[in-house]
Amino acid sequence: MSSTVSIIGSAVLALLLAGYMAQKYGLPPPPPKIVGIDLGTTFSSIGVYHAVTGDTEIIADDLGKRSIPSVVGFLANGSVLVGHRAVEQQEKNPLRTIYDAKRFIGKTFSEDDPQFIADKERYPFTIKLFENGSAYFEIPLSSSIKIVTPEEVGSIIISYLRNAAEKEKKTPIAQLVISVPAEFDDIQRNATAKAASLSGMEVRRIISEPTAAALAYGLHKKKGVEYIVVVDLGGGTLDVSVLWLQGGIFVTQAMAGNNRLGGQDFNDRVQHHLMDHIESKYGKKLEDKEDLQQLRMAIEEAKIRLTTFPKAVISLDLKDLDTFDYVLTRDQFEAINEELFDHITEPIAAALEDAHIGTQDVDEIVLVGGSTRMPRVRKLVGSYFKRTPNYGIDPELAVVTGASVQAGVIGGGWPLQVAAMELASKQRKRHIYKEKRAPNVECSV
Ligand SMILES: *[C@@H]1O[C@H](CO)[C@@H](O)[C@H](O)[C@H]1NC(C)=O
Ligand SMILES: *[C@@H]1O[C@H](CO)[C@@H](O)[C@H](O)[C@H]1NC(C)=O
Ligand SMILES: *[C@@H]1O[C@H](CO)[C@@H](O)[C@H](O)[C@H]1NC(C)=O
Repeated sequence: MSSTVSIIGSAVLALLLAGYMAQKYGLPPPPPKIVGIDLGTTFSSIGVYHAVTGDTEIIADDLGKRSIPSVVGFLANGSVLVGHRAVEQQEKNPLRTIYDAKRFIGKTFSEDDPQFIADKERYPFTIKLFENGSAYFEIPLSSSIKIVTPEEVGSIIISYLRNAAEKEKKTPIAQLVISVPAEFDDIQRNATAKAASLSGMEVRRIISEPTAAALAYGLHKKKGVEYIVVVDLGGGTLDVSVLWLQGGIFVTQAMAGNNRLGGQDFNDRVQHHLMDHIESKYGKKLEDKEDLQQLRMAIEEAKIRLTTFPKAVISLDLKDLDTFDYVLTRDQFEAINEELFDHITEPIAAALEDAHIGTQDVDEIVLVGGSTRMPRVRKLVGSYFKRTPNYGIDPELAVVTGASVQAGVIGGGWPLQVAAMELASKQRKRHIYKEKRAPNVECSV
């Protein structure tokens, strides 16, 4: 123990010295060697930790975006587009534009699994299964059929992020810390690691997303913090984790989630509402694939606008029908989605119950995921705990910020602060979700 302390001590000394020299003689800070990557279901991002200043920097791509859509588009000639460029052509190229690949990574399915059948119907691109049950995507190119695995989609996204970081930092970077959902099992963690190694990078640490979010807010060095609840409402899922922090070590005490409750589900309800409206107005169903894609993208934009403004205009130029304009108010958006909002506190209650604690025992609440920008969500969670959640960091960048802090810890750039650690969780996650036309189902997986 004492030798560990002295090693850490001299590392800190060397670092302080480097910082002093840098300030005194205007030397550039040492280039980062390890990046933090959040390979998310809907968005991904990359960051570095600056040893001397202790800041994390989330790096933008050449379009200036720090949240990169986890979307990969293939052109008929085989060219590959990533992020916003892939999203821009998605409407015109739905069969060759892959998103949500993380939902399939490291998992196996059977052809008659109702969930898999529903997924096949839900996505415009073709999903098939290998004999061993792993999913892959089948992409029709002009002269061949391309087969792409979820790991390969992940590696394309990681390579894109790495290129952006190397370009910005003007240095090669070959190591990463990558975050995964808390409930990912070893196979899913390995598959995520495989995505990283396919891109030529070395995985230094896999960190769970809630722990990363807590690190981002510096909760590991805040006095008197014992229990932290992380509420992550992303594009496809709601995940709640109870973390127990003891001596700089994070232990996941409980997890609960609803894998049918995320930003997309709010969009889907609005889509159904608008499609009914269109059908009654034109006497015709909206069926064209490109029209539907246009509608989906307009709804996403409207939802984002409604996080700051009381109303949003949806304007469509439909191939099948006509121009279509609709004013959606925030009140209307919340009314259409009332039932979904009602379900948000269920996994929170379940996780607290499994951790054997009450709301009064919780010291800190962290909100993660773009969907926590919806004002209604912040309000719901705040009043449930009678306490204001942490939300200063962009909820879409909290996980990558924490992964970058962890990268800084591993890289030795963590002066005078507790080196955060995470113990592997043996907890099972409780899944709470609402089946179509069925009562609430609750199960342990
Ligand atoms: C494929 O087509 C796109 C435009 O349609 C073009 O920009 C790109 O250079 C082409 N790629 C190859 C490999 O020919
Ligand atoms: C299943 O087979 C595919 C193709 O051979 C392979 O890429 C994948 O890793 C395999 N999955 C498992 C779980 O072994
Ligand atoms: C995951 O990878 C590690 C190291 O590569 C290996 O030892 C372990 O058996 C793998 N676990 C699973 C479940 O594939």
